[in-house]
Amino acid sequence: MRLQDKVAIVTGAAGGLGATYAHAIAREGGHVVVVDVANGEGTEAAIRAQGHRALALQADLTDEDEVKRLMEAVMAEYGRIDILVNNAGGAGQRPAESEIEKIDREHWDEIIAINLTSTMLSIKYVAPHMKRQQSGKIVNISSRAARGTAWFGQVTPEYICAKIGVIGLTRQLAKELGPDGINVNCLVPSFTVSGPALQAAWEKMTDEERTTMIEATPLRRLPDPEELASVVVFLVSDESSYVTGACLDVNGGSLMA
Ligand SMILES: NC(=O)c1ccc[n+]([C@@H]2O[C@H](COP(=O)([O-])OP(=O)(O)OC[C@H]3O[C@@H](n4cnc5c(N)ncnc54)[C@H](O)[C@@H]3O)[C@@H](O)[C@H]2O)c1
Repeated sequence: MRLQDKVAIVTGAAGGLGATYAHAIAREGGHVVVVDVANGEGTEAAIRAQGHRALALQADLTDEDEVKRLMEAVMAEYGRIDILVNNAGGAGQRPAESEIEKIDREHWDEIIAINLTSTMLSIKYVAPHMKRQQSGKIVNISSRAARGTAWFGQVTPEYICAKIGVIGLTRQLAKELGPDGINVNCLVPSFTVSGPALQAAWEKMTDEERTTMIEATPLRRLPDPEELASVVVFLVSDESSYVTGACLDVNGGSLMA
């Protein structure tokens, strides 16, 4: 067990990749706090059904008061926070235009808020506790979209900018929090079929777009969500104790193409 008794907050864990990360951390012995603006009790129940430990707490991570209350609730329950995985985010629920002249300001603000502002706020309210402990592991979630330009039309400039911002925040906070024994790293995954919404996005792509994506990937396939979760577990475990400020690309080699 690599994470025995560690208290781990995983945001955006009601479903999708967050739920996969939560399960993986729980399997390694962690107490997982499943945080989401949606109801996370399904993830909590599924983890408990496997004999592991989880607690679901609902919060909108773009709301500073809610983030503050969330961290206070976790501290009241467990008395410490060892791990924070800032996974909440995404490209948004409604279709959006990607051309600059059609950008909708409301959508821009929403995507920056759910991906970047939520990450900043969660770290802001976790940092004092981790500093007091003189230890902590923070993993932020960026996207391959932040490493270049969009692969296909459904990815908007606001999503790319938010995920580039997550990389910048990772580096800056790794520098700031390192002297307090806190590691801050970033996972940079490529397109992953992580649930119904991403399945729909994959199906909406043209055959040509799908072929281009696979052929530009040396491993010639999309990742299994567990292949991202194993990297998250590495980044929150003691195995990565001298890794900080790193942005780990998990993309089947597609950046080389
Ligand atoms: N799936 C992919 O292809 C892919 C690739 C690269 C990066 N990512 C990133 O990985 C993360 C998870 O992606 P996913 O595919 O599982 O998406 P998802 O939409 O299935 O999960 C995102 C979760 O975040 C939650 N969330 C959104 N706004 C929130 C808020 N304000 N407060 C609290 N929770 C909020 C949602 O309710 C949802 O449960 C996202 O940050 C996404 O940008 C995904």
